Amino acid sequence: MHGPKTDAPMRIDVCVSCRAAGDPAEPREGRPGARLAAALESVATDGIEIARVDCLSVCKRPCTIAFSARGKWTYVYGDFGPDAAADVLVCARTYADATEGIIPWKERPEALKRGVVARIPPFTRKEAAQ
Ligand code: FES
Repeated sequence: MHGPKTDAPMRIDVCVSCRAAGDPAEPREGRPGARLAAALESVATDGIEIARVDCLSVCKRPCTIAFSARGKWTYVYGDFGPDAAADVLVCARTYADATEGIIPWKERPEALKRGVVARIPPFTRKEAAQ
């Protein structure tokens, strides 16, 4: 196995429906989002769960992913290419190591600076403080 190692369990949701305008809809496993999900599944390490989702409602910025973890802010990112698994895992490690998942701007990998779509606070802020 390759990729980052982290003690903090987190999940990467990957939209498997994402495709750029003009990309063929079929076969579905050929869509850029599905290819990115498959690549991540092949390299993800303990502590990182890869979850396939059908749509994250950011369809105009394929490929779309989200980082989440217990007690941390959830971040949604777009604009990843289908071959971006290594970049996504670097970003995931940065997220896993960040307090509450908040990565200072200067420390953000370039892909996260460009691609951020939204951030959502932890379900309970009290939990985040633990
Ligand atoms: S199709 Fe990927 S976010 Fe909607």
